[in-house]
Amino acid sequence: MKHFLTLADFTPSELIEMLTLGLELKRDFKQGKSHNGLSGKILGMIFEKNSTRTRVSFEAGIYQLGGMGIFLSNRDIQLSRGESIYDSAKVVSSMLDLIMIRTFEHSRLEEFAKHSKVPVINGLSDSYHPAQVMADYMTMIENGIFSSHFVSPELISILQNLGIRHIAEPKLSYIGDGNNMAHSYMMLAAKFGLELKISTPKKYSPDPKITEFALKIAKESNAKIEFYSSPEEAISDCNVVLTDTWISMGQEDEKEKRRSDFRGYCIDSKLMALASKDAIFMHCLPAYRGEEVSADVIDGPQSRVFEEAENRLHIQKGIMLWLHQNR
Ligand code: CP
Ligand code: NVA
Repeated sequence: MKHFLTLADFTPSELIEMLTLGLELKRDFKQGKSHNGLSGKILGMIFEKNSTRTRVSFEAGIYQLGGMGIFLSNRDIQLSRGESIYDSAKVVSSMLDLIMIRTFEHSRLEEFAKHSKVPVINGLSDSYHPAQVMADYMTMIENGIFSSHFVSPELISILQNLGIRHIAEPKLSYIGDGNNMAHSYMMLAAKFGLELKISTPKKYSPDPKITEFALKIAKESNAKIEFYSSPEEAISDCNVVLTDTWISMGQEDEKEKRRSDFRGYCIDSKLMALASKDAIFMHCLPAYRGEEVSADVIDGPQSRVFEEAENRLHIQKGIMLWLHQNR
C-alpha cells in the first residue's frame, strides 16, 4: 500500500499512470459517462487549515466515483483537542478506505500515515502540496508542454485522441516565496527531468533540506533546477510562469513584513513579457491581485488558473483510483 505524501514516493511511470487516469476520467466526465471505480468507498477529509478547492474537489471527486466523503474539520474532531495522531490514525483508518489530510508540519502527515491501515493523501502541508502540482502538470500537458522523455504509450494515445500536440519541453520559472509550492515544483521537476528556474528574495529561499533532496532526485532524471536572485533572469524565455501567495496559511502575522520584503517579485505584464511569447501563467490559488500577480496577468489571455483549479478534481480522481487499485 502506498501513501501520497510527496511526489518523491512514486516513480515517474507511476505518476504518468495517475495523470493518464486523470485525463481519461476528465474526458469521460465531459462526455457525461459515469464511473463507479470507488463505489461504496469512503474518503475521510481532515482539514486543520482552510480550503476551497481541495475540499470541493476531493469531496466532489469521491462522489463522482461512486463513493462518499466525510468532512472532518479541526473544529469538530478530537485530534485538535489533543488526541494523539497514533490513536486518531488507528481509529479513523479502521473505518475508512482513503484519508486526505491538510495540516501544518509535514511530520504530522508522516506520523498519521505510519499508523494508518489505508492510503493517506497529502492535501497540503507546510512543506508540500503534491496533489496541486499534479493538477498543474496535467494542465501543462493539456497545453502541449511536457517532458517527452517521460511518457507512456497509453498517455500518447489519449493525447492523440484529445488532439493534444507536444509543443515544448517544459522550462518552468517560479517567482516568489520558497514555500510548499516551490518545494513541490522542485519535486515535480526532479521527477520528470524538467528545467526549473527559481527566484525568491534571499531570506525566503526554499528549505535547504528539501532543496538538497530534490537536487539528489534531479540527478537521476537530468532535471535542471537553478536559483536566481533576479526574477527577470529566472523568467527569461520560460514556457510556464508560476507563482504563489507571499503569505501562506499560518503566516498571517508576517503579512506587512512579507508584503514589503517581496516588492519586485510581482508577476506583472512587464515581467511576463520576458517569458517566451506563448508562455502560460499558473497559480494554485487563492491569489492576491496586486501582490504576487497583477490583475492583467492573472485575468489575461496567458493565464490558465481556472483550468488548473478544475484539474484538481480530475487528477485527484485519478490519484484516489490509482491508490485504491494499487493497495
Ligand atoms: N490551491 C488550493 O489548494 O486551494 P485551497 O486552499 O482553496 O484548497
Ligand atoms: N502556499 C499556500 C498554498 C495555498 C493553496 C499556503 O500554504 O497557504
